[in-house]
Amino acid sequence: MEQVTLNEHLLAEQRSHAESTEELTELINRIALCGKIIAQRLRRSTLTGDTGYAATSNVYGERQEKLDVFANAVFLRHLRYGGIVSIAASEEMEEPKVFSPDGEGHYSVSFDPIDGSQNLDVNGTLGTIFGIRRRRGAQEHDHGLLTSGREQVAAGYLLYGPATELVVAVGGEVTIFTLDDAGEFFRSKDRVRLPERGRPYAVNEGNQARWSEETRKYVQWLKTPDPKTGEPHATRYSASLVGDFHRILQQGGIYLYPAEPGDPKTPNGKLRVLYECHPLAMVAEMAGGRASTGSGDVLDVVPEDAHARCPLALGSKEEVDRYEEFVRSSAS
Ligand code: F6P
Ligand code: MN
Repeated sequence: MEQVTLNEHLLAEQRSHAESTEELTELINRIALCGKIIAQRLRRSTLTGDTGYAATSNVYGERQEKLDVFANAVFLRHLRYGGIVSIAASEEMEEPKVFSPDGEGHYSVSFDPIDGSQNLDVNGTLGTIFGIRRRRGAQEHDHGLLTSGREQVAAGYLLYGPATELVVAVGGEVTIFTLDDAGEFFRSKDRVRLPERGRPYAVNEGNQARWSEETRKYVQWLKTPDPKTGEPHATRYSASLVGDFHRILQQGGIYLYPAEPGDPKTPNGKLRVLYECHPLAMVAEMAGGRASTGSGDVLDVVPEDAHARCPLALGSKEEVDRYEEFVRSSAS
């Protein structure tokens, strides 16, 4: 296969898409650098005593792992430089970090520095998720952060698995890059298409008691053999949204973290709009898949605050459409 680096790919993009600016290329390269630094630290973390909890907890009252804190700091360090980013919001920080109060930086970035932190202690799959918005005006009090997901000009994630991979959705295309021994991300899959349907489904069924009746019925439908093939869907849940989505992006199927009407703490489910749902919804849609809250596109959700949550049904068009049908059936 022809060896194309991330930077070469982005430079070629710049020529064909108006939103792919030099600054955006620089920003995505910086995010790739953060991924390399985080991957390097993760590779040795079970030997160096880096796993385990830090002395702090995040805004949701969840105890932070040492590596959550480390990865967050790596991002801040590299996003700050050069005046490209005006504001950065992270799952691990109570308040977004404003780099240029005068509104000079053209971009705002939201990110989940370590997704799937429950996997840190067991050397399981982890990820980093990011969404990038271009600011429209200098005066917006939130720097354009609390807007619909359609305002994102690029989004994607890093996956720390057997190989470190970077998935970027920009300019209408989704591309996968793989980190090579040379320390460079090379393009490994171009123009990724999320299959129209697929067998894998990822949901934490232990939470059934908190779901709506429609969600329970839907998951039961997933487990019922398809009359055409005789096969039911296949459970594939790893406690890492990025890890599960990476499979679904390539093989189809559905990732579901539904609303939990049975739990007053998580009526809208667990996942955060800005750090998880919007970016992955953009990747899914650009690859021909879908992301729904059950009653509408995730990209149309406008978060009330930086830490707002929403239900997420993410993946193949067929499985997500069907989930919406089940949810709608409760309204009739
Ligand atoms: O970041 C949230 C997250 O860790 C996802 O990566 C993962 O899919 C989910 O939460 C796991 O949550 P639960 O423990 O409720 O199944
Ligand atoms: Mn996460």
